[in-house]
Amino acid sequence: MALTREIRPGIFWVGALDWDRRLFDALLPLPQGTSYNSYLIQGEEKTVLIDAVDETGADVLMDNLRSLAVESLDYIIVQHAEQDHSGGLKRLLAEYPQASVLGSARSLELLAEFGLMDAGKGQEAKDGESIPLGGRSLQFISAPWVHWPDTMFTYIPEEHILFTCDFLGSHLASSHLFASDEADLYLPAKKYYAGIMMPFRSSVKRHLERIEKLDVDIIAPSHGPLQDRPGLILDAYRDWASDRVKNEVVLAYVSMHGSTRIMADYLGEALISRGVAVRRFDLTDYDLGDLAQSLVDAATIVIGTPTILAGAHPLALYAATLANALRPKTRYASVIGSFGWGGKMLEQITESLSSLKVEFLDPVVARGRPKEDDFAALDRLADEIAALHQKLDE
Ligand code: FEO
Repeated sequence: MALTREIRPGIFWVGALDWDRRLFDALLPLPQGTSYNSYLIQGEEKTVLIDAVDETGADVLMDNLRSLAVESLDYIIVQHAEQDHSGGLKRLLAEYPQASVLGSARSLELLAEFGLMDAGKGQEAKDGESIPLGGRSLQFISAPWVHWPDTMFTYIPEEHILFTCDFLGSHLASSHLFASDEADLYLPAKKYYAGIMMPFRSSVKRHLERIEKLDVDIIAPSHGPLQDRPGLILDAYRDWASDRVKNEVVLAYVSMHGSTRIMADYLGEALISRGVAVRRFDLTDYDLGDLAQSLVDAATIVIGTPTILAGAHPLALYAATLANALRPKTRYASVIGSFGWGGKMLEQITESLSSLKVEFLDPVVARGRPKEDDFAALDRLADEIAALHQKLDE
Protein backbone atom coordinates (compact mmCIF):
# COMPACT_ATOMS: atom_id res chain seq x y z
CA MET A 1 0.00 0.00 0.00
CA ALA A 2 1.34 3.41 -0.90
CA LEU A 3 0.45 6.84 0.40
CA THR A 4 1.37 9.94 -1.58
CA ARG A 5 -0.19 13.37 -1.31
CA GLU A 6 -0.13 16.13 -3.87
CA ILE A 7 0.93 19.53 -2.58
CA ARG A 8 0.83 21.31 -5.93
CA PRO A 9 0.63 19.82 -9.43
CA GLY A 10 3.80 17.77 -9.84
CA ILE A 11 4.90 18.25 -6.23
CA PHE A 12 4.14 15.34 -3.90
CA TRP A 13 4.71 14.30 -0.30
CA VAL A 14 6.10 10.77 -0.63
CA GLY A 15 7.48 10.21 2.88
CA ALA A 16 6.77 7.73 5.65
CA LEU A 17 4.55 8.13 8.69
CA ASP A 18 5.90 6.46 11.83
CA TRP A 19 2.89 6.26 14.13
CA ASP A 20 4.53 3.87 16.58
CA ARG A 21 7.95 5.37 17.25
CA ARG A 22 8.11 6.38 20.87
CA LEU A 23 11.67 7.64 21.34
CA PHE A 24 14.00 9.75 19.24
CA ASP A 25 17.76 9.77 19.70
CA ALA A 26 17.04 7.21 22.44
CA LEU A 27 16.13 10.30 24.47
CA LEU A 28 13.17 12.40 23.35
CA PRO A 29 9.68 10.93 23.90
CA LEU A 30 7.47 10.83 20.80
CA PRO A 31 3.97 10.48 22.24
CA GLN A 32 2.42 11.10 18.82
CA GLY A 33 5.02 9.34 16.67
CA THR A 34 6.72 11.24 13.88
CA SER A 35 7.04 11.38 10.11
CA TYR A 36 10.02 11.30 7.79
CA ASN A 37 8.93 13.61 5.01
CA SER A 38 10.27 13.26 1.52
CA TYR A 39 9.16 15.29 -1.47
CA LEU A 40 9.01 14.50 -5.17
CA ILE A 41 9.25 17.48 -7.50
CA GLN A 42 8.60 17.03 -11.17
CA GLY A 43 9.76 19.72 -13.57
CA GLU A 44 9.25 19.70 -17.32
CA GLU A 45 12.77 18.33 -17.72
CA LYS A 46 14.02 17.02 -14.39
CA THR A 47 12.64 15.00 -11.50
CA VAL A 48 13.97 15.48 -8.01
CA LEU A 49 13.54 13.88 -4.61
CA ILE A 50 14.16 15.91 -1.47
CA ASP A 51 15.32 13.86 1.53
CA ALA A 52 15.59 10.11 1.79
CA VAL A 53 13.67 9.21 5.01
CA ASP A 54 14.77 7.02 7.88
CA GLU A 55 15.98 3.54 6.98
CA THR A 56 12.83 2.12 8.60
CA GLY A 57 10.72 4.05 6.08
CA ALA A 58 12.74 3.15 2.98
CA ASP A 59 10.30 0.44 1.81
CA VAL A 60 7.42 2.89 2.12
CA LEU A 61 9.31 5.54 0.18
CA MET A 62 10.12 3.09 -2.61
CA ASP A 63 6.48 1.95 -2.79
CA ASN A 64 5.35 5.57 -2.93
CA LEU A 65 7.69 6.38 -5.80
CA ARG A 66 6.57 3.27 -7.68
CA SER A 67 2.92 4.23 -7.19
CA LEU A 68 3.66 7.51 -8.97
CA ALA A 69 5.45 5.60 -11.74
CA VAL A 70 8.73 7.39 -11.07
CA GLU A 71 11.11 5.64 -13.45
CA SER A 72 14.09 7.90 -12.96
CA LEU A 73 15.37 10.57 -10.64
CA ASP A 74 17.77 13.22 -11.85
CA TYR A 75 18.68 14.49 -8.40
CA ILE A 76 18.35 13.38 -4.81
CA ILE A 77 18.70 16.37 -2.51
CA VAL A 78 20.06 15.55 0.93
CA GLN A 79 19.32 18.59 3.06
CA HIS A 80 20.86 17.03 6.17
CA ALA A 81 22.82 13.83 6.60
CA GLU A 82 21.32 12.69 9.89
CA GLN A 83 20.11 9.17 9.36
CA ASP A 84 16.40 9.90 9.82
CA HIS A 85 16.62 11.82 6.51
CA SER A 86 19.29 9.83 4.73
CA GLY A 87 18.82 6.24 5.93
CA GLY A 88 16.97 5.31 2.72
CA LEU A 89 19.65 6.73 0.43
CA LYS A 90 21.35 3.42 -0.35
CA ARG A 91 18.03 1.87 -1.40
CA LEU A 92 17.26 4.90 -3.53
CA LEU A 93 20.62 4.81 -5.27
CA ALA A 94 20.23 1.09 -5.94
CA GLU A 95 16.85 1.74 -7.56
CA TYR A 96 17.81 5.01 -9.27
CA PRO A 97 21.57 4.67 -9.94
CA GLN A 98 21.63 7.54 -12.40
CA ALA A 99 20.50 10.08 -9.77
CA SER A 100 23.02 12.70 -8.66
CA VAL A 101 23.13 13.33 -4.93
CA LEU A 102 23.20 17.02 -4.05
CA GLY A 103 23.97 18.33 -0.59
CA SER A 104 26.20 20.68 1.32
CA ALA A 105 29.88 19.76 1.35
CA ARG A 106 29.55 18.73 4.99
CA SER A 107 26.49 16.58 4.24
CA LEU A 108 28.36 14.74 1.49
CA GLU A 109 31.25 14.06 3.86
CA LEU A 110 28.90 12.81 6.57
CA LEU A 111 27.02 10.54 4.16
CA ALA A 112 30.33 8.86 3.36
CA GLU A 113 31.27 8.66 7.04
CA PHE A 114 27.92 7.03 7.80
CA GLY A 115 28.43 4.49 5.01
CA LEU A 116 25.39 5.75 3.09
CA MET A 117 27.27 6.86 -0.02
CA ASP A 118 30.75 6.36 -1.41
CA ALA A 119 33.25 9.09 -0.56
CA GLY A 120 33.77 11.52 -3.41
CA LYS A 121 30.33 10.90 -4.85
CA GLY A 122 27.68 13.56 -4.89
CA GLN A 123 27.77 17.18 -5.90
CA GLU A 124 28.02 20.12 -3.58
CA ALA A 125 24.97 22.38 -3.50
CA LYS A 126 26.32 25.79 -2.60
CA ASP A 127 24.43 28.54 -0.84
CA GLY A 128 22.42 30.57 -3.34
CA GLU A 129 22.89 28.12 -6.21
CA SER A 130 19.89 27.15 -8.30
CA ILE A 131 19.15 24.23 -10.54
CA PRO A 132 16.50 24.49 -13.29
CA LEU A 133 13.99 21.66 -13.52
CA GLY A 134 12.02 23.05 -16.44
CA GLY A 135 9.20 25.41 -15.51
CA ARG A 136 10.40 25.54 -11.92
CA SER A 137 13.71 25.58 -10.12
CA LEU A 138 15.33 24.72 -6.83
CA GLN A 139 17.39 27.21 -4.90
CA PHE A 140 19.67 26.06 -2.08
CA ILE A 141 20.02 27.98 1.15
CA SER A 142 22.81 27.05 3.51
CA ALA A 143 21.39 26.77 7.04
CA PRO A 144 24.10 25.43 9.34
CA TRP A 145 23.44 24.70 12.99
CA VAL A 146 19.74 24.08 12.93
CA HIS A 147 20.77 21.69 14.22
CA TRP A 148 23.82 20.16 12.52
CA PRO A 149 26.60 21.95 10.63
CA ASP A 150 25.50 20.45 7.31
CA THR A 151 21.86 21.54 7.08
CA MET A 152 20.47 23.40 4.09
CA PHE A 153 17.01 24.50 3.01
CA THR A 154 15.58 24.21 -0.50
CA TYR A 155 13.30 26.85 -2.02
CA ILE A 156 11.10 26.74 -5.09
CA PRO A 157 10.69 30.44 -5.98
CA GLU A 158 8.07 29.75 -8.66
CA GLU A 159 5.84 28.00 -6.10
CA HIS A 160 6.85 29.88 -2.94
CA ILE A 161 7.54 26.58 -1.17
CA LEU A 162 10.37 26.35 1.34
CA PHE A 163 11.69 22.95 2.42
CA THR A 164 13.26 23.41 5.85
CA CYS A 165 14.36 19.92 6.89
CA ASP A 166 14.33 19.73 10.72
CA PHE A 167 13.80 23.48 11.12
CA LEU A 168 10.17 24.44 11.88
CA GLY A 169 9.23 20.76 12.08
CA SER A 170 7.47 18.67 14.68
CA HIS A 171 7.48 15.07 15.79
CA LEU A 172 3.88 14.38 14.92
CA ALA A 173 2.43 11.59 12.80
CA SER A 174 -0.75 13.03 11.35
CA SER A 175 -3.21 12.05 8.66
CA HIS A 176 -3.33 15.71 7.67
CA LEU A 177 -0.83 16.85 5.06
CA PHE A 178 -1.12 20.43 6.28
CA ALA A 179 -1.43 21.50 9.90
CA SER A 180 -5.20 21.56 10.08
CA ASP A 181 -5.56 22.56 13.70
CA GLU A 182 -2.76 24.89 14.60
CA ALA A 183 -3.45 24.52 18.32
CA ASP A 184 -2.82 20.77 17.95
CA LEU A 185 0.54 21.43 16.32
CA TYR A 186 1.79 24.10 18.73
CA LEU A 187 2.88 21.83 21.58
CA PRO A 188 4.59 19.16 19.44
CA ALA A 189 6.36 21.96 17.56
CA LYS A 190 7.45 23.58 20.82
CA LYS A 191 8.70 20.28 22.22
CA TYR A 192 10.56 19.72 18.97
CA TYR A 193 12.10 23.20 19.16
CA ALA A 194 13.08 22.58 22.81
CA GLY A 195 14.71 19.23 22.19
CA ILE A 196 16.39 19.92 18.86
CA MET A 197 16.74 23.62 18.12
CA MET A 198 16.96 25.42 21.48
CA PRO A 199 20.71 24.85 21.96
CA PHE A 200 21.24 26.74 18.67
CA ARG A 201 19.11 29.79 19.41
CA SER A 202 21.41 32.31 17.73
CA SER A 203 21.42 30.25 14.52
CA VAL A 204 17.64 29.93 14.74
CA LYS A 205 17.33 33.72 14.86
CA ARG A 206 19.71 34.15 11.94
CA HIS A 207 17.83 31.72 9.73
CA LEU A 208 14.46 33.21 10.66
CA GLU A 209 15.74 36.57 9.42
CA ARG A 210 16.82 34.97 6.19
CA ILE A 211 13.45 33.31 5.67
CA GLU A 212 11.73 36.66 6.19
CA LYS A 213 13.31 37.84 2.95
CA LEU A 214 11.66 35.03 0.98
CA ASP A 215 8.13 34.92 -0.32
CA VAL A 216 6.86 31.74 1.36
CA ASP A 217 3.36 30.30 1.03
CA ILE A 218 4.16 26.78 2.22
CA ILE A 219 6.71 25.55 4.72
CA ALA A 220 7.53 21.91 4.11
CA PRO A 221 9.62 20.48 6.97
CA SER A 222 11.04 16.98 7.06
CA HIS A 223 9.06 16.01 10.19
CA GLY A 224 5.38 16.59 10.87
CA PRO A 225 2.67 18.39 8.91
CA LEU A 226 3.33 21.16 6.38
CA GLN A 227 2.26 24.72 7.04
CA ASP A 228 0.21 26.63 4.51
CA ARG A 229 -0.13 29.52 6.95
CA PRO A 230 3.54 29.98 7.77
CA GLY A 231 2.90 32.90 10.13
CA LEU A 232 2.02 30.71 13.11
CA ILE A 233 5.17 28.64 13.21
CA LEU A 234 7.41 31.57 12.26
CA ASP A 235 5.89 33.77 14.99
CA ALA A 236 6.19 30.93 17.49
CA TYR A 237 9.87 30.42 16.62
CA ARG A 238 10.51 34.17 16.89
CA ASP A 239 9.00 34.12 20.35
CA TRP A 240 10.81 31.00 21.53
CA ALA A 241 14.15 32.15 20.16
CA SER A 242 13.80 35.70 21.48
CA ASP A 243 15.51 36.86 24.65
CA ARG A 244 12.17 37.25 26.42
CA VAL A 245 11.48 34.95 29.37
CA LYS A 246 8.23 34.41 31.25
CA ASN A 247 7.30 34.75 34.87
CA GLU A 248 7.65 30.99 35.35
CA VAL A 249 9.75 28.67 37.49
CA VAL A 250 10.58 25.14 36.46
CA LEU A 251 10.70 23.25 39.74
CA ALA A 252 12.23 19.85 39.06
CA TYR A 253 12.80 17.71 42.11
CA VAL A 254 13.30 14.22 43.43
CA SER A 255 12.76 13.13 47.02
CA MET A 256 13.78 9.96 48.86
CA HIS A 257 12.24 10.19 52.31
CA GLY A 258 9.99 13.21 51.84
CA SER A 259 12.15 16.14 53.02
CA THR A 260 12.86 17.53 49.57
CA ARG A 261 9.22 17.01 48.57
CA ILE A 262 8.07 19.06 51.58
CA MET A 263 10.45 21.81 50.46
CA ALA A 264 9.24 21.61 46.85
CA ASP A 265 5.63 21.81 48.09
CA TYR A 266 6.43 24.80 50.24
CA LEU A 267 8.45 26.67 47.63
CA GLY A 268 5.89 25.96 44.91
CA GLU A 269 3.06 27.39 46.99
CA ALA A 270 5.19 30.32 48.12
CA LEU A 271 5.90 31.19 44.50
CA ILE A 272 2.31 30.80 43.36
CA SER A 273 1.10 32.98 46.22
CA ARG A 274 3.54 35.64 45.02
CA GLY A 275 2.13 35.52 41.49
CA VAL A 276 4.85 33.32 39.95
CA ALA A 277 3.76 30.44 37.71
CA VAL A 278 5.28 27.06 38.60
CA ARG A 279 5.90 24.08 36.35
CA ARG A 280 6.61 21.24 38.68
CA PHE A 281 8.23 17.93 37.75
CA ASP A 282 8.69 14.91 40.01
CA LEU A 283 11.84 13.51 38.43
CA THR A 284 10.88 9.92 39.26
CA ASP A 285 7.96 10.10 36.83
CA TYR A 286 7.85 12.82 34.20
CA ASP A 287 7.90 13.40 30.48
CA LEU A 288 11.27 14.63 29.36
CA GLY A 289 9.68 16.47 26.40
CA ASP A 290 7.40 18.37 28.79
CA LEU A 291 10.36 19.37 30.93
CA ALA A 292 12.32 20.51 27.87
CA GLN A 293 9.48 22.60 26.47
CA SER A 294 8.90 24.17 29.91
CA LEU A 295 12.48 25.38 29.81
CA VAL A 296 11.86 27.30 26.55
CA ASP A 297 10.24 30.24 28.35
CA ALA A 298 10.85 29.93 32.09
CA ALA A 299 12.85 32.68 33.75
CA THR A 300 14.06 30.42 36.55
CA ILE A 301 14.93 26.79 37.15
CA VAL A 302 15.07 25.27 40.62
CA ILE A 303 16.48 21.78 41.06
CA GLY A 304 15.43 19.90 44.18
CA THR A 305 17.47 16.93 45.35
CA PRO A 306 18.27 14.92 48.42
CA THR A 307 21.80 13.76 49.08
CA ILE A 308 22.63 10.18 48.23
CA LEU A 309 25.99 8.43 47.93
CA ALA A 310 27.54 11.68 49.14
CA GLY A 311 26.17 13.68 46.23
CA ALA A 312 23.10 14.82 44.33
CA HIS A 313 20.48 12.26 43.37
CA PRO A 314 21.28 10.86 39.88
CA LEU A 315 17.81 11.83 38.62
CA ALA A 316 18.44 15.43 39.63
CA LEU A 317 21.88 15.32 38.03
CA TYR A 318 20.31 13.95 34.86
CA ALA A 319 17.75 16.77 34.72
CA ALA A 320 20.45 19.37 35.37
CA THR A 321 22.67 17.86 32.69
CA LEU A 322 19.78 17.87 30.24
CA ALA A 323 18.94 21.51 30.99
CA ASN A 324 22.60 22.38 30.61
CA ALA A 325 22.75 20.71 27.18
CA LEU A 326 19.52 22.32 25.95
CA ARG A 327 20.82 25.78 26.90
CA PRO A 328 17.52 27.53 27.54
CA LYS A 329 17.46 31.31 27.95
CA THR A 330 16.71 30.86 31.66
CA ARG A 331 18.07 33.77 33.72
CA TYR A 332 18.12 32.42 37.29
CA ALA A 333 18.78 29.09 38.94
CA SER A 334 18.75 27.71 42.44
CA VAL A 335 18.93 24.45 44.34
CA ILE A 336 16.83 23.17 47.19
CA GLY A 337 17.22 19.89 49.00
CA SER A 338 18.33 18.02 52.02
CA PHE A 339 21.10 15.94 53.47
CA GLY A 340 21.54 13.60 56.40
CA TRP A 341 25.25 13.59 57.06
CA GLY A 342 26.97 15.56 54.30
CA GLY A 343 28.01 15.42 50.66
CA LYS A 344 28.69 17.50 47.58
CA MET A 345 25.18 17.76 46.25
CA LEU A 346 25.25 21.54 45.77
CA GLU A 347 28.56 21.61 43.94
CA GLN A 348 27.49 18.80 41.63
CA ILE A 349 24.24 20.46 40.58
CA THR A 350 25.87 23.85 40.14
CA GLU A 351 28.61 22.33 38.03
CA SER A 352 26.07 20.43 35.95
CA LEU A 353 24.41 23.74 35.02
CA SER A 354 27.68 25.46 34.17
CA SER A 355 26.86 26.14 30.50
CA LEU A 356 23.79 28.18 31.39
CA LYS A 357 24.16 31.94 31.59
CA VAL A 358 22.27 32.14 34.85
CA GLU A 359 22.58 33.99 38.10
CA PHE A 360 22.58 31.46 40.93
CA LEU A 361 20.30 32.41 43.80
CA ASP A 362 21.07 31.29 47.34
CA PRO A 363 20.27 27.59 47.72
CA VAL A 364 18.23 26.19 50.55
CA VAL A 365 19.52 22.92 51.97
CA ALA A 366 17.94 21.37 55.04
CA ARG A 367 19.55 18.92 57.39
CA GLY A 368 17.03 16.15 57.59
CA ARG A 369 13.40 17.30 57.77
CA PRO A 370 13.03 21.00 56.89
CA LYS A 371 12.55 23.18 59.95
CA GLU A 372 11.45 26.73 60.67
CA ASP A 373 14.72 28.23 59.46
CA ASP A 374 14.53 26.28 56.23
CA PHE A 375 10.97 27.42 55.53
CA ALA A 376 12.05 30.99 56.21
CA ALA A 377 14.88 30.53 53.70
CA LEU A 378 12.43 29.16 51.14
CA ASP A 379 10.25 32.23 51.69
CA ARG A 380 13.29 34.43 51.06
CA LEU A 381 14.05 32.51 47.89
CA ALA A 382 10.44 32.91 46.72
CA ASP A 383 10.61 36.66 47.55
CA GLU A 384 13.79 37.04 45.55
CA ILE A 385 12.46 35.12 42.54
CA ALA A 386 9.19 37.09 42.56
CA ALA A 387 11.08 40.40 42.78
CA LEU A 388 13.44 39.44 39.95
CA HIS A 389 10.55 38.28 37.79
CA GLN A 390 8.72 41.54 38.34
CA LYS A 391 11.62 43.30 36.67
CA LEU A 392 11.61 41.03 33.64
CA ASP A 393 9.62 43.37 31.42
CA GLU A 394 11.28 46.58 32.62
FE1 FEO B 1 15.43 14.92 11.74
FE2 FEO B 1 18.47 16.14 12.47
O1 FEO B 1 17.29 14.89 11.89
